[in-house]
Amino acid sequence: MDITKKLDDILVSLFNSVLKMEENAIKNSSKHNLSITEVHTLAAIGAGKAKTMTQVAARLKISVSTLTIAINKLVDKKYVNRFRIPEDRRIVKIELTEEGACAVREHEEFHRKMIEDVLSELNEKEQGILVQSLDNLHDFFKRQRVKAIKGDAPIGLTPLVLGDLTIPVPIFQGGMGIGVSLSGLASAVAKCGGVGVISAAQIGFMEPDFYTNPKEANARALARNIREAKAAIENVPGKGLIAVNLMCASRNYDEFVETAVKAGVDMIISGAGLPTALPGLVKDSKVKIVPIVSSARAAALIVKSWTKKYNRVPDAILFEGPKAGGHLGFKEEQLEDAQEHFYETIMEIKEEIEDLPDCPLIVAGGIYTKEDVQKALAYGADGVQLGTRFVTTEECDVHPNFKQAYLDAGEDDIIVIKSPVGMPGRAIRTPFSDRVEAGRIPPEKCNRCLIPCKAEEAPYCITQALINAAKGDIENGLVFSGSNAYRAEKIETVADIFRELTS
Ligand SMILES: Cc1cc2nc3c(=O)[nH]c(=O)nc-3n(C[C@H](O)[C@H](O)[C@H](O)COP(=O)(O)O)c2cc1C
Repeated sequence: MDITKKLDDILVSLFNSVLKMEENAIKNSSKHNLSITEVHTLAAIGAGKAKTMTQVAARLKISVSTLTIAINKLVDKKYVNRFRIPEDRRIVKIELTEEGACAVREHEEFHRKMIEDVLSELNEKEQGILVQSLDNLHDFFKRQRVKAIKGDAPIGLTPLVLGDLTIPVPIFQGGMGIGVSLSGLASAVAKCGGVGVISAAQIGFMEPDFYTNPKEANARALARNIREAKAAIENVPGKGLIAVNLMCASRNYDEFVETAVKAGVDMIISGAGLPTALPGLVKDSKVKIVPIVSSARAAALIVKSWTKKYNRVPDAILFEGPKAGGHLGFKEEQLEDAQEHFYETIMEIKEEIEDLPDCPLIVAGGIYTKEDVQKALAYGADGVQLGTRFVTTEECDVHPNFKQAYLDAGEDDIIVIKSPVGMPGRAIRTPFSDRVEAGRIPPEKCNRCLIPCKAEEAPYCITQALINAAKGDIENGLVFSGSNAYRAEKIETVADIFRELTS
């Protein structure tokens, strides 16, 4: 038997058969006058809340103008309602009519029945083999999409050139506040050829005037940490870069950008909101600027906005998925779905930035082992960022009790908490997080560090809780961590991790 031919025949005929069955099912339904494409459009709108044209077009992977033509017909046929929302008359939303919802239900029923019929012919073991084989095949086809963009180059951690700077080993260490990634950890990572990231989040927390003059205390500590890290790697051959992580939500963001540039940082990585103003703030300095995004849509938005306003594109894009630590760029109810589509999203972002050959994609969130690194690269990443794995290192700047909390944690101890900034955050359960879950802990003092946080309503002061943990008071602290924190078994060195990931 020619297995190549047989498999080819099966795949082509399988695809055609399913399509034909779908078409017949739709044709035989006396009630509906719809084409298969129209049914798929209705399914993308879904029976839930009304959606914007952009949301539905993104789901179908078509342009809004193509969708508009399809929606015009569906409105005429009375399967879709189109309306402007009263709060903002510029926004058009679409929703299914009762008839549209009925057509979608029928279509779902067809799919359910088809799968049920297939499974009824197989025993449990055969069902498992079928799912596994199809999953592998699906994975293969997805990776072909990446190959189409990246070519046949071998998958690996190859050096990245960003204009006048080179990253010998494209492993970024995530910026971790408060006080987790400072000059010590960042310089250790850059010495191994990676990108060491200093977190600017309330970095002045150890300064004597932090509570009386937070702006100056933070700026002073930020500049000092950048200078210390740069000095530590000055004569190291094969060194990487020193970056800072600045959250858009921080008060005095603009001043921190200026401080970081003046102190000679190589790169500014910015998230917790889209850093739309960043190119204007770094002006014509040579510092590299990297936005953090959580979807292909956000990547497209930032590229479009920077190009239009500043004629500049990002020097790299950092995609942070839902398994990351600290504040997450997803709503709590989106986390599961976002994880299911993590690798798909890597590919989508890579496709989105395909036309920007000098803009590598760095992927973060749940990357812990060499296999995780390889998988992210196989799906289109050009580099990776790890946060959690670097916490349990000798060089990590945080208090040893914080690292011990990682070593002691079990999988069930990793929780998602509500942050006063309005985003979910991932952390290790502590007596403090239990108290927060039980009720509000009114903040004692507030230096208005985060723009979206309102002390009068905040469930607790996140800055104080993170400072307590950074100083080793785990009882009264919030220990941010990624979902892999429970995997830490020992304290390693940064060089150990680089050896393992690059071997
Ligand atoms: C303790 C801790 C603190 C963090 N603090 C920040 C932060 O201040 N700003 C930020 O953008 N990301 C922060 N992160 C996210 C990391 O930079 C990184 O992207 C993420 O944790 C990667 O996922 P991983 O931890 O699964 O490797 C933090 C993560 C941890 C574990």
